[in-house]
Amino acid sequence: MGRIFVFTGKGGVGKSSVAAAHAVKSAQMGKRTLLVSTDMAHNLGDIFEKQLGREIENVLPNLDLYEIDPSYVCENDYREMMHYVDQLMGSGQQLSDMGMIPGTEELFCLLRIADLYQTGGYERIIVDCAPTGETLSLLKFPELLSWYMEKLFPIGKVGVRVLSPISKTVFKTEMPNRQAMNDIEKMYQKLIELQELLKDRDICSIRIVTTPEKMVVEETKRNYMYLNLYDFNVDGLYINRILPKDIANTFFDQWIEIQHNYLHILKDTFSVLPIYEIPWYDEELKGLSNIKRIVEDVLTGEDVFETKVLSQRDTFLQTEEGYELLVAIPGADKADLDLYRAATDIVIKAGNFKRNIPLPNVLRSYEVAGAKYEDDVLRIRFEKGE
Ligand SMILES: Nc1ncnc2c1ncn2[C@@H]1O[C@H](COP(=O)(O)OP(=O)(O)O)[C@@H](O)[C@H]1O
Ligand SMILES: [Mg+2]
Repeated sequence: MGRIFVFTGKGGVGKSSVAAAHAVKSAQMGKRTLLVSTDMAHNLGDIFEKQLGREIENVLPNLDLYEIDPSYVCENDYREMMHYVDQLMGSGQQLSDMGMIPGTEELFCLLRIADLYQTGGYERIIVDCAPTGETLSLLKFPELLSWYMEKLFPIGKVGVRVLSPISKTVFKTEMPNRQAMNDIEKMYQKLIELQELLKDRDICSIRIVTTPEKMVVEETKRNYMYLNLYDFNVDGLYINRILPKDIANTFFDQWIEIQHNYLHILKDTFSVLPIYEIPWYDEELKGLSNIKRIVEDVLTGEDVFETKVLSQRDTFLQTEEGYELLVAIPGADKADLDLYRAATDIVIKAGNFKRNIPLPNVLRSYEVAGAKYEDDVLRIRFEKGE
């Protein structure tokens, strides 16, 4: 079974460099590996000093590179659907120009990755992500999924087909044709597959790259919390750009101390995760020889590709009074947590993020009786309604 490793983190912390080092290491181990970038500011070509096109290219034995161009993917795989969507939006506005809906670009990139996972024959797919903010908004599946579907195709799948003959007069809009419908269904199916892939703890590992400085540490904590809230398995932290202690220049004394402080905080906060420390090198990490420095200095054991299941998936437990739902949300601020029931979902809010968890049928007649947040886990109690 193939594995997927997703490298995420704030912009500029070293995601591409660290992802590239893993890809090189993986290929060296004889595993058929794909390094793929979903960041619109692609730089894998720079790192491997190679001009890359829009298709997959082989750069080393066992190593392929791929800088995804989402508009190209969209044009090739979802042409009819996008054409329909453009019509819906009316003339002048073109959704297929992208950027109109947040996350669209990365969404098409991730869909392509799900495809490659199924058909590409890769043992490992290493994903070099766009900066946290963009990726996070994307990982909000399935909430995003239903959001897209409602916004883009408000009438619903079945309805569209049944209503098609009268649609023009009733809805004053063009119904998607058969071909567009096929694309829509294809995308819907792929989104579901993608979600299953990314949340499967035996398949997908999420790795966070960070640096020992205040702003980055703060974002790393939030990122980790949200990834857990959405039920992804984070199983590695990479602390990059650590200054060597023996620099003979007093200019760095204070910086070394500052870093030391944040290193301490990171190790403390993320003590459950395997942590890798990467030195600040004396030059940019361009070219294979520089990437190999990370491989040799940091990724020495082969266990960097082992999955460690560190957080429980959402669990429903039966209790004497009813049921309990356990959701791991490490490092959340209690005051920022909120939850409510919306139709057949339970909605958890943490800061700016919110997640809908569909309730199993058996709980539909139950009510939320209380909740507490303890040891990084939110426990929600359900009791039988009146
Ligand atoms: N440990 C390091 N030592 C020296 N330069 C680094 C290190 N990590 C990253 N860089 C450099 O910092 C820049 C940003 O790194 P990159 O991997 O592209 O980050 P990201 O993908 O997170 O934006 C690049 O020029 C890279 O060569
Ligand atoms: Mg990058």
